[in-house]
Amino acid sequence: MSEPAIEGPVGGVLIVDFGAQYCQLIARRVRELGVYSRITAPERAMFTFRHMRPQAVILSGGPRSVYEHDAPVLDAALLEQGVPVLGICYGLQWLAQHTGGEVTPAQSGAEYGRTELVVTDERDLLRGIPQHSTVWMSHGDKVARLGPGFEVLAKSEPCPFAVVGDRRRRFFGMQFHPEVAHTEHGTRMLSNFVLEVAKVRADWNPGSLVDSKVAAIKQLVGPDGEVVMGLSGGVDSSVAAVLIHRAIQQRLHCVFVDNGLLRAGERAGVEALFSDHYHMDLTVVDASERFLAALAGVTEPEQKRKIIGKVFVDVFRDQAKARRGARFLGQGTLYPDVIESVAAHGGATSMIKSHHNVGGLPKDLDLKLVEPLRDLFKDEVRALGRELGLPSSLVDRQPFPGPGLGVRCLGELTRDKLEPLRQADRIVREEIEQRSLQRGLWQYFAVYVPQKTVGVKGDARVYEDVCVLRVVSSQDAMTADWELLPVDVLKRISNRILNEVKGFSRVCLDISSKPPATIEWE
Ligand code: XMP
Repeated sequence: MSEPAIEGPVGGVLIVDFGAQYCQLIARRVRELGVYSRITAPERAMFTFRHMRPQAVILSGGPRSVYEHDAPVLDAALLEQGVPVLGICYGLQWLAQHTGGEVTPAQSGAEYGRTELVVTDERDLLRGIPQHSTVWMSHGDKVARLGPGFEVLAKSEPCPFAVVGDRRRRFFGMQFHPEVAHTEHGTRMLSNFVLEVAKVRADWNPGSLVDSKVAAIKQLVGPDGEVVMGLSGGVDSSVAAVLIHRAIQQRLHCVFVDNGLLRAGERAGVEALFSDHYHMDLTVVDASERFLAALAGVTEPEQKRKIIGKVFVDVFRDQAKARRGARFLGQGTLYPDVIESVAAHGGATSMIKSHHNVGGLPKDLDLKLVEPLRDLFKDEVRALGRELGLPSSLVDRQPFPGPGLGVRCLGELTRDKLEPLRQADRIVREEIEQRSLQRGLWQYFAVYVPQKTVGVKGDARVYEDVCVLRVVSSQDAMTADWELLPVDVLKRISNRILNEVKGFSRVCLDISSKPPATIEWE
């Protein structure tokens, strides 16, 4: 388990992860209230509690039953620390079981979906919540009997104990999920618990972390330590690099690998910002030949992803070895990457795509990690980036996958296909960004589909490939909706691609949401 024990602020809200798919959402909602939150696995909860000294605890939902013999183990000493506890779904059931109550399978089987909540006691936890509202249930078991001290605060048709509480001990529980958007007043309920019941001060501000992050990097790296890091030009590695650079200046050595799968202008943009503007020690390695040679003849998406990841590690390893003095590896790892590596998630979730992140650690290098963003969510990293003075074009840019155009160019990767795709992608970005249409969009890009179709250009018949336009909105890339650009913009993008780019006879629009489609095509 990779969760460090003492990193991160003291105080805030500790969230015990019983394997809930919504656990990260709870943590984000709490931080959006201006309160630091941290997720821990149940078996580490007391350990983390002692280091973090939280002012409140939230127990998440989870896929198990509390009466299963191998249910997640949480030390009930957590209930004796004098801090308020909110149990959500499975968390409520655990709370009930450990305070003298009883949990049974829901009589009518599992209950999922929207339910009407009827508030019967609108003090503290449910203050300001209308008497009738919609909440999102998702559970197989339910509380059948409450332990001493507990009373009912709200009920729903299938569930007489929808919200319960023991005011004296400040223990509360909800059988539904306040953290999901389908629960109408969920944010208010969480806010009531954190700010009113637990009286935690809302003073968490990621933008204000610059000084403490810089100090921590200085301490970790020491007075003469050197750091090598892969800089992709994406938000995470850029913010991490600027922070590390602020701490140790020229003892940071950045490596930008041109894998031949970059967008138009990407390499020049990174050089202009980090080398010319920040005066960082930046090495640009043109490894496009090496990548394309390794990818020759490969058409299977997963194999392409794996080769791109492996060649990146090889190239980066050579660069890191050349900097013999460097004992540290800088990375832009974010909090979701750290949480996802904790084995509390109720078994294996099925792997859909192997993600390759620039900066992946070559194991044999024996470098210590410097990861200044590992306790932050993406929107918090953006706030930090703004505070550091990074331009909006970088901080607010759309995500670009590690394997780059490689996962948007179907079939074998060749320069003949990558170059037209790069030009089409540039046109899509130009047309959208010139009109500031990118607000509200998660990603917008072109895809190369090597399917010949007949067209006519000038007076001649052509037989060329298909360019697909993909425009999506999303909160977190877990789900996404396709978005329709204004028709005049679509017309202009289509005209420009067909007239300016050689290789396409047709432009098509992808109108697939995720799920079932994914955002990238491979
Ligand atoms: P999918 O295609 O799975 O993508 O819907 C979800 C989000 O992840 C991005 N993506 C990646 N990001 N390395 C990354 O850092 C990768 O290998 C990778 N593959 C996909 C994708 O752009 C979308 O935002």
